[in-house]
Amino acid sequence: MPPRKTIGVLTSGGDCAGLNAVIRAVVARAVLGHGWRVLGIHQGTHGLLRRPVEATPLDLHNANPSMARMAGTILGTTNYGDPFAYPADGGVTDRSEEVIEGIRLLGLDALIGIGGDGSMAILRRLAQQGGIPFVGIPKTIDNDVGATESSVGYHTAVMVATEAIDRLQPTAASHDRVMVLEVMGRDSGHIALAAGIAGGADVILVPEIPYSLDVVAAHIIRLRQAEHNFAIVVVAEAVRDNAGARVERRHALGNATYGGIGHVLGEALARMTGAETRVTVLGHVQRGGQPTWDDRLLACAFGVHAVDLVAEGKFDRLVVWQNRRVLDVPLIAAFDRAPLLVSDDTLVGIARGLGICLGDR
Ligand code: F6P
Repeated sequence: MPPRKTIGVLTSGGDCAGLNAVIRAVVARAVLGHGWRVLGIHQGTHGLLRRPVEATPLDLHNANPSMARMAGTILGTTNYGDPFAYPADGGVTDRSEEVIEGIRLLGLDALIGIGGDGSMAILRRLAQQGGIPFVGIPKTIDNDVGATESSVGYHTAVMVATEAIDRLQPTAASHDRVMVLEVMGRDSGHIALAAGIAGGADVILVPEIPYSLDVVAAHIIRLRQAEHNFAIVVVAEAVRDNAGARVERRHALGNATYGGIGHVLGEALARMTGAETRVTVLGHVQRGGQPTWDDRLLACAFGVHAVDLVAEGKFDRLVVWQNRRVLDVPLIAAFDRAPLLVSDDTLVGIARGLGICLGDR
């Protein structure tokens, strides 16, 4: 009988709904389908840098079906501390060999990494440097991993944003207000566009489509004269201000994230339209909460397929969802092309067809 394999699984980058469902699927398939051991590595590559290496054996008891409904990740994650440029003494240092040593110390036959495009780039580089058999599973609310129609966590984020619009619309109507909702998405407008259409927004601004404030203000004025007394404006966090500058927030630890365009826009639109305007910044609630049914299904499909790739000895692969099927592609496809919205995207056409203003005309 061949020796029993041990595989590692880790979550890396910003968390999102559905990560625990992936972990559980990996464990179920590895244990039930192949009779392997699974080690859950703590906090992405951070757990591999610590000595002793931080990892927990996962089995059918501590990774059971009820995990499919749990938000967050039982393994923990991190979106800072690239081991190739690890913060140290006010500068950075290369700690990649320590991470690779951590994987060897665990005696792993293969590693499955659940992450976004940034994490995939780091994990692929580590795998190549250390000769580690690696398979990637895409997750991110931003839905900006290449080659897959959906990443784990995206649908849940869209559902949360849609629900926020559902809740803003009645209060907007009651007060004759313009409500601006700022949603996440990093450099992509997928969440804004999908939730904006689903929630019945009047204006949707995404970073991929340059806008004019005059066009947006004119649309709102016309709406309020001819259709309804309120307006819902959904704006993706990476939309630039009127002068073309990014709107960011710098945090105490020195890193910056997008945030604040909603307020910039709200003030400008209040001045230009004369309408009372309020702003909601949805923030991290888009990442938490129970995963939707479709994120759970995606998580299950991805977890099972990733383990089967390991069994077939197929590495440097990314598990993807295309045309209602789970497939796999070369891992490099995760980040060789930014899957942002394009002007002929189906949803862009649908938004225009519904009379939603995208700020450009
Ligand atoms: O990539 C996921 C994401 O939630 C982005 O949409 C957002 O810009 C960023 O992470 C926020 O990062 P942090 O968790 O560091 O605030």
